This record gives sequence, C-alpha cells and structure tokens, in this order.
Amino acid sequence: MDKNVLVLSAHPDIAEKSKACAALLSAVKDLPKVRVMDLSEIPATVENYYERVKAASVIVLQFPFWWGSAPAILKTWIDTLMLGFLEDPSMKGKRLLVATSVGSGPEVYRAGGAEQFTVDEILRPFQVMAIYSGMTYLTPFVLYGTMLPDAEQRIQRGAKEYRALIEQL
Ligand SMILES: Cc1cc2nc3c(=O)[nH]c(=O)nc-3n(C[C@H](O)[C@H](O)[C@H](O)COP(=O)(O)O)c2cc1C
Repeated sequence: MDKNVLVLSAHPDIAEKSKACAALLSAVKDLPKVRVMDLSEIPATVENYYERVKAASVIVLQFPFWWGSAPAILKTWIDTLMLGFLEDPSMKGKRLLVATSVGSGPEVYRAGGAEQFTVDEILRPFQVMAIYSGMTYLTPFVLYGTMLPDAEQRIQRGAKEYRALIEQL
C-alpha cells in the first residue's frame, strides 16, 4: 500500500463556502498516509510545493466542478508548476486522481443529456496533463448531485466512498 497521498485542495474557500469538498476533505485528512495542501492558502511556487509533490506517490486534485473545469487556482497551480515537473523523472509512475464534486446528477452527463458529455470526457485536459508528465491517470472520483434536493445524503455517501477509495490506493 502506498504511504504518501498528496491531496491538493483547490476550493477557493473551503472553510466558509463549501459543503461537498469540505466533506470530502474531512473524510480523508486524518488518514496517516494523506497530506493536504490548500491551494487557496499556499501560493503556487516551486519552493512551496516541490518537495511534497516529489515525495508523493499519488497526487489528488480535489476541486468543485466549475464551468466544466476546476476553479482558476488549480489552473494557476498547473501552469506555474507542471512545466517544471514535466521534465522531472520523479513524476514518472506517480498516479493522478481527479476528485470533483458536481452540481448536476449523473443522468444528465451523457450524450443527448442536458450536459451532453460525460464528466470523464470533460476532464480530458487533466488526463492530457498526466500523460505529458508520465503519470498514470486513475478513474476520476466524481460526487454527483451536490445541487439536487437530496444533496446532503449524496455528500455523506460520497464522503464515505471517497475515504474508502483513498484508503485502498
Ligand atoms: C462558478 C460555478 C460554476 C459551476 N459550474 C458547474 C458545472 O459546470 N456543472 C455542474 O454540474 N455544476 C456546476 N456548479 C455547481 C458546483 O459543481 C457545486 O456547487 C459544487 O460541486 C459544490 O461543491 P462545494 O460545496 O465544495 O462548493 C458550479 C458552481 C459554481 C459556483
């Protein structure tokens, strides 16, 4: 079992404005092998992230799904740091897990549905990033329906599933 999972939390305000991502983070942050870095608090510099990223065997990009993508802080982080990691042999073989919470339900994320595409398809740019840097892209973890009437139950259930997934990585 891998001992070092780095969760990069990319919610702009997880303390005050998040239910879903906050629940996901709470569900895993006490696991001994998990380290959390909050992109909204730690500026995207090589000095701040290099050693932790290098030491991780699994990198988790955790964010709320915004406009079919991640909040801008994650893009800034990727644009600032991933170019350097692209050439870094230590990235090869790491696993990359995207973990995202999505407002709509899974039934609309398909061809012909209201959202037209699956979330896997919409997340392709993250997969491209993994391929470029030699990482293994894992099946994304998607918590659907955080804006639906039964969101509370979905979030509770999703948090348990997320913990189980991270535990067995
Ligand atoms: C700026 C913004 C853009 C959003 N875009 C989408 C979207 O493209 N698709 C979707 O299903 N939900 C969308 N949502 C809903 C969020 O995914 C949902 O509120 C989020 O998963 C909740 O996570 P949180 O409680 O951690 O903030 C959007 C929400 C915001 C605020």
